[in-house]
Order: sequence, then C-alpha cells, then structure tokens
Amino acid sequence: MASPRLLLASLLLSYLCFASSQASAPKVSLALYYETLCPYCSRFMVNHLAKIFDDGLISIVDLDLIPYGNARVNSNASIACQHGTYECLLNTVEACAISVWPDVSEHFKFIYCVEQLVVVGKYKNWETCFQETGLDSTAVMKCYESGCGKKLELQYAAKTDALQPPHKYVPWVVVDGQPLYEDYENFESYVCQAYTGDLPKACEVQPLTIHPKWIASSSDQVTYTDGVIIPPVMRKEHDMKIKMLI
Ligand SMILES: *[C@@H]1O[C@H](CO)[C@@H](O)[C@H](O)[C@H]1NC(C)=O
Repeated sequence: MASPRLLLASLLLSYLCFASSQASAPKVSLALYYETLCPYCSRFMVNHLAKIFDDGLISIVDLDLIPYGNARVNSNASIACQHGTYECLLNTVEACAISVWPDVSEHFKFIYCVEQLVVVGKYKNWETCFQETGLDSTAVMKCYESGCGKKLELQYAAKTDALQPPHKYVPWVVVDGQPLYEDYENFESYVCQAYTGDLPKACEVQPLTIHPKWIASSSDQVTYTDGVIIPPVMRKEHDMKIKMLI
C-alpha cells in the first residue's frame, strides 16, 4: 500500500506537470489599431485576423481591438475621422460593442460582420449585424446615443497617441509591444514565436519567422539576429520587406 506521503508527492507532481504545460504561459498580446472604413483594415480583419477563431490560435492570444486609427481630436474635443463622419459613427459603434460585450468572441463576431459589409461597400447596412449575429442592439445603441461611445473613443485616441513607437499608418498591428510594420499579415508567425508555452496546432503550419529586428547585408545575403534560415526562393520577397522596415 502506498504511503500517504508518497501519494501526496505524486499528486503534487502531476499537479505541477499539468500546471506547467497547460496554464502557466501568458497569452501573447495582439493589438490592432485600425479605423472602420480603411480598406486595408477591413480586408485584414475579414481575410486574416478572423482565421484565429477557426484555427484555435485565439487560445494563446489576448486580442485588443482599438477602433480609432488616424482620427484626430479637435481643440473643441470633437473627433474628425480620416474617412469622414460615417467612419466616426462606426468607430464609435465598434467601441461600444467592445465595451458592451467584453468577451472577444462576441464583440469580434459583431465587428467582423460590420467589416465584412465594409469590404463589399455596404457598411450603411451595419445595423443588420445585430440580427446576423443574434446579439441584442439595445446596449450598443444606448452606448452610442448617450455619449458613452464618444468617451470610449477619446480613451482610444489617448491610447493610440501614446503608442511607442508611434503608429505610422493603419492597420497597425502590435505583438507583445512590437509593431509588425508592413509584415502585419504574417502576425500568426509572430504570435507563435512569442508564445512560451506548448504551441497549439495552428502554429505547426506557420512559416519560419522573421523578426522586425533582422539585419540586411549589402548583397542578397540575409542575416537574422536570431539565426532563422529562409530558403533562397523566399529571399527576394524578404529582402524587399527588409528595405521597407529600415
Ligand atoms: C470643432 O472644431 C472643428 C475643427 O476646428 C470644427 O470643424 C467643428 O465645427 C467644431 N465643432 C463644434 C461643435 O464647435
């Protein structure tokens, strides 16, 4: 018969093993600074970002959407948006959705629906997204009409303006505090590389990455700070990206 002490030790060991492999690694922070009517933003969200909810990558990601982008706060505290007042309306509606449904899978469902309408040029039908997603409109409409949404936008303005380094364009994708610049469509690779826990299946298909810190030499040789080797056929494209980053 096993002694109680031995039993306790083995329980403790299995707890520690379980904890270390399952629960201890912090999620990777993934922030998207965007504005609702920017075509590159809507296409990125619909064609790329949405995939993480299907392939399971969302389980290791802490996704933060910041719908403000290149808007400006005037001296009288009104907000001017790059694509006009309708963009301000939709930025605010999406900010309200995030606030009203803090669960990312809920607010992303709604925001995805709106951005899909942006992609096909039918964003003025955005209210159909309540019905489409089965999410109740009451709280979002109240947030928008009461001025709460405007306050949320002013907070997003402050958050966007505080970015270090400052954003240069949208979409501006930041993984664990590091902007991805032009390589933002490749964000899944950066997320997988940043994660310190057991990698989910979605990471197995990710190509070798690529850090913003990499260094280009004068020839077509490429040196990476962390020694990642890229097959020669891919180098051309990578060289181009290097030039854009530096
Ligand atoms: C606030 O300032 C902007 C730009 O200076 C101007 O276009 C707008 O009419 C002003 N709004 C109000 C409510 O005064």
